[in-house]
Amino acid sequence: MRYYVTITILNIFPLFGLKLNIVTVTNERNDNWVVKQQQMNNSIEKITNFSDVMNEFESHENWSRLCNISHLRHSYFDIVCVIQGDSSIKLSEFRNFTDKVSSNIRFDVSVTCEDGIIHFPWPFRADKLNSIYIKDCRIKDYRADYKNELINSIPDTIKYLQMDNVIISQRVGDLYDSIPKANSPITRAAECGPENAFSIIQRGTNVTFEDLENQHLFDFSTALNQHNYYFNTQKRSCLYNNLEVYEMSGKKENLRKNDINKILYTDVAVSLKILNFSNNGMFDTYYKMQGWQRRFPVMEYIDFSKNNIQVLPMIPDYGLAVRKNKSVVTIDLRRNNITSLTKHMIDSFSTHEFVKVDISENPFVCDCGVLEVMAYLTSKTMPKVYDYLGSLECSKPSKFRGRKLLNMSATDLNCIKETIVNFQVVVFSIITITLIIITLLTIYFRNMIKVILFTRLNIKCPCELRSVTAVEKEYDAFIAYSEKDVEWVIHTALPKLESDDAGKACSLCLHHRDFIVGNTIADNIYNSVENSYHTILLITNDFLRSEWCMMEFRTALRKSLHDKGRHLIIVLKGNISLDNIDPDLKSCLNSQTYLKIGDVLFWDKLKYAISFRHNT
Ligand SMILES: *[C@@H]1O[C@H](CO)[C@@H](O)[C@H](O)[C@H]1NC(C)=O
Ligand SMILES: *[C@@H]1O[C@H](CO)[C@@H](O)[C@H](O)[C@H]1NC(C)=O
Ligand SMILES: *[C@@H]1O[C@H](CO)[C@@H](O)[C@H](O)[C@H]1NC(C)=O
Ligand SMILES: *[C@@H]1O[C@H](CO)[C@@H](O)[C@H](O)[C@H]1NC(C)=O
Ligand SMILES: *[C@@H]1O[C@H](CO)[C@@H](O)[C@H](O)[C@H]1NC(C)=O
Ligand SMILES: *[C@@H]1O[C@H](CO)[C@@H](O)[C@H](O)[C@H]1NC(C)=O
Ligand SMILES: *[C@@H]1O[C@H](CO)[C@@H](O)[C@H](O)[C@H]1NC(C)=O
Repeated sequence: MRYYVTITILNIFPLFGLKLNIVTVTNERNDNWVVKQQQMNNSIEKITNFSDVMNEFESHENWSRLCNISHLRHSYFDIVCVIQGDSSIKLSEFRNFTDKVSSNIRFDVSVTCEDGIIHFPWPFRADKLNSIYIKDCRIKDYRADYKNELINSIPDTIKYLQMDNVIISQRVGDLYDSIPKANSPITRAAECGPENAFSIIQRGTNVTFEDLENQHLFDFSTALNQHNYYFNTQKRSCLYNNLEVYEMSGKKENLRKNDINKILYTDVAVSLKILNFSNNGMFDTYYKMQGWQRRFPVMEYIDFSKNNIQVLPMIPDYGLAVRKNKSVVTIDLRRNNITSLTKHMIDSFSTHEFVKVDISENPFVCDCGVLEVMAYLTSKTMPKVYDYLGSLECSKPSKFRGRKLLNMSATDLNCIKETIVNFQVVVFSIITITLIIITLLTIYFRNMIKVILFTRLNIKCPCELRSVTAVEKEYDAFIAYSEKDVEWVIHTALPKLESDDAGKACSLCLHHRDFIVGNTIADNIYNSVENSYHTILLITNDFLRSEWCMMEFRTALRKSLHDKGRHLIIVLKGNISLDNIDPDLKSCLNSQTYLKIGDVLFWDKLKYAISFRHNT
């Protein structure tokens, strides 16, 4: 068996940081052994009498001391050994024994160690050895016959080989010597192992070195290059015509791609039913399963369980070939590291009528995505072997451990749409809504804002730029008021408007102060209106009753109509009954906005209005 070469070398190559590429195929015949057998037939008289076989066994000192032989049935003998303490047995002593018995006899050997050591060179070949079972042993000389051509001449009679929990204990130098090189190949026996076997099982094999401190004495990097060269050029294909069970499990660390490639792609094993790479710490599915049904037409069970596989192997066409017996192949991926069932897997499984890919007992994560996938699963018609998918269980988060994926609900998983709060969306919405509100408020209060901006910050709205060509006038505004309101004008309005309070100071024209003595009142009114940018009408009930006031109003109105500008600024003071007022004034009040004393922004609005310069 070539696989143990790999085991050993992989075990040491972390020391050198090298990777091996091991593929082998050859054809070789055990010609030597026929010659040797004929010689032996001639020279030795074989023991055919069963009790003489037992007697002969007793003459071999260590085997007879540590093992019991019994004749069970027909020509089959059972040899059971228990190797304790510091005792040991050698395979070569057993070979000396079997050479002496007649060729129809077969031995089933079982060796269990309790601290003892066995000297058993791979592939444990001994004539007439039918089965070999080794348990808990430390094996020495394991690689001793790797290049010993004589081993090829020993008949390959092993039908069952099993090693449970053995430790291969070797010396660095022996490993070095046993590495195959171009001019120094290993034997077919060493590379293929028991080619006639029905089962080859290696469970939990470990490799240790007795003298690791000596590894610097050997040039392993060159040796391993030669080893690669050897396997790349000398392609040897082992022929396992009987092999039904091939297991290499429990290796934890060192089983890699190359360990499994040989049996999967290079060797011939048409009777293989069980292929077992369980519990080897395999990380991923290096292997592809296309065309496997042609290489392994009667395969029943491929065991990749208890590894660390996260991605399903590719099995696109495994189920497509029509299998003669229509039995279902199981590809066991239980207890790996697959965290989710996906729609893609479901689609793939739905085409695998004769392949059951078993992904149960994986650490499935139950999140919101599960709902969609399980709904998809329910909507599909799956082959019967996939019924098990309905009972897959959650593993994470821990509060859902043991719950069935199929029974999870949106409420359990907290997946109800409204409750999914996206922080960024929330912030964005708040900002947007705030901006909209600000915009609406700005539009609604735009006039007030304009006024405040102008009076308090002296910022003018560009759309209302005053005309620079306006004729220079003496006053900003002429105030027309009834004599009854003189107190208010002098003590309240003048201080406000002629100061810098709430905007720039205005220059005002008041008739009691600025009318020129000697002119008629009508002339004075006319001049005042002409020499002011605006006329402020302080309208009170008294104003409406005053003849002069109404004259001022009409003069200003005419001016306003003539100037097509905002000459008139109407200010209402007190409760004014608008019933019987002058029709011209009434239409002015209806068409023009007017200011009311008592308005919070009254002074601001007034100064703002005064600041306008209309074209003349
Ligand atoms: C050796 O003798 C046995 C019978 O004792 C026979 O079956 C076998 O074929 C012989 N082998 C050779 C190589 O002649
Ligand atoms: C085997 O040998 C023993 C004595 O050595 C003899 O008694 C017995 O009959 C023999 N049996 C056969 C089958 O030849
Ligand atoms: C039997 O075992 C003893 C002690 O382990 C050893 O010295 C001796 O060489 C062994 N004999 C054979 C034939 O293996
Ligand atoms: C061999 O048989 C004897 C007596 O039946 C028994 O005490 C002993 O444990 C056996 N040894 C083995 C290795 O089975
Ligand atoms: C096996 O037999 C050969 C000679 O036939 C002898 O040299 C050798 O020491 C024997 N081996 C054992 C372990 O008894
Ligand atoms: C594969 O090997 C493991 C470990 O020895 C064992 O538990 C399991 O049953 C085997 N699988 C099959 C299908 O034989
Ligand atoms: C399973 O895979 C994840 C990465 O997907 C890894 O972090 C974790 O260690 C793996 N679990 C085991 C038991 O190795």
